[in-house]
Amino acid sequence: MTTSHQFGGQWTDEKLDRLRKYLHAYRTIFTKNPRAAMLRTTFVDAFAGTGYRQSPKAASAQTLPLRLDDLPVYDDDATLFQQGSARIALETSPPFDHYLFIEQNPAYIAELEQLRQQFPAVAQRIEIVQGEANATLQDWCRRTNWRTNRAVVFLDPYGMEVEWATIEAIANTQAIDLWVLFPLGQAVNRVLTRSGPPQGGWSDRLTKFFGTADWKNAFYRPSSQMTLFDEEEQLEKGASFEQISAFFLQRLNLVFSKVADNPLYLRNRKNVPIYLFCFAAGNPKGAPTAIKIAQHILGN
Ligand SMILES: C[S@@+](CC[C@H](N)C(=O)[O-])C[C@H]1O[C@@H](n2cnc3c(N)ncnc32)[C@H](O)[C@@H]1O
Repeated sequence: MTTSHQFGGQWTDEKLDRLRKYLHAYRTIFTKNPRAAMLRTTFVDAFAGTGYRQSPKAASAQTLPLRLDDLPVYDDDATLFQQGSARIALETSPPFDHYLFIEQNPAYIAELEQLRQQFPAVAQRIEIVQGEANATLQDWCRRTNWRTNRAVVFLDPYGMEVEWATIEAIANTQAIDLWVLFPLGQAVNRVLTRSGPPQGGWSDRLTKFFGTADWKNAFYRPSSQMTLFDEEEQLEKGASFEQISAFFLQRLNLVFSKVADNPLYLRNRKNVPIYLFCFAAGNPKGAPTAIKIAQHILGN
């Protein structure tokens, strides 16, 4: 391990435990069912990291940076060097037919190449792509023959890096099960400023993220303020964590066959819901079983 990849906390374990259980259940079903066994299954980790995570004990980064892209997520109750999602996926038994790891950081790509060497039995099945997650995924969804392929996609960004166009491309395949980390308190709630809707770049970013400008009506309401001379109509934030979450789930429900109705709130030590871990199933035939399993695993 040469490159340090620092993020996480206890909530990270909660998230990755659910993913691990789902991957095992998914591959078990696809192996046992003779018709499903004819399909080629891929696990996609579009924000793959390094395959492990190192959590600093005393670090904290709780202020919103100007750019969300490189936001590190620290939580100081974490332990050092734990498994990351790529390693967890490679340990899945029965294994997937194919693994696609997408990561934009070249140093992390080098770590993923080392990880490949630790799994010789499936090394030939691993594809590592250095690239931007949205562009790479949208292209992959377009190029893949979904009559013979099925996949589980895991979207594990730091903040609002996932574009709605990517979620839509995934849903349109009708062949993918999606686990997505919604950056509830970590990003979205912080961008939705109390004094009125964000303008300019942040407004555009929210629209690209939700795939609609309706977030403004959903999260803000008119309120009258008395000024020195007059009464003024302003917009004030009226959305709770639950309402923001419900809005995202509604958006998922518009494009996926089924969406788990018990997503997992991942909270930091101060009990703030920093992320919502959501599941959506794309294949109309497989969705009822997939949702049943995911809801059981989410288990709250
Ligand atoms: C939260 S970490 C992923 C952790 C990983 N899933 C795990 O469990 O070990 C997010 C990763 O996404 C990468 N990343 C951020 N924005 C990206 C983008 N637009 N495209 C591809 N990778 C990105 C970061 O370099 C970082 O490694």
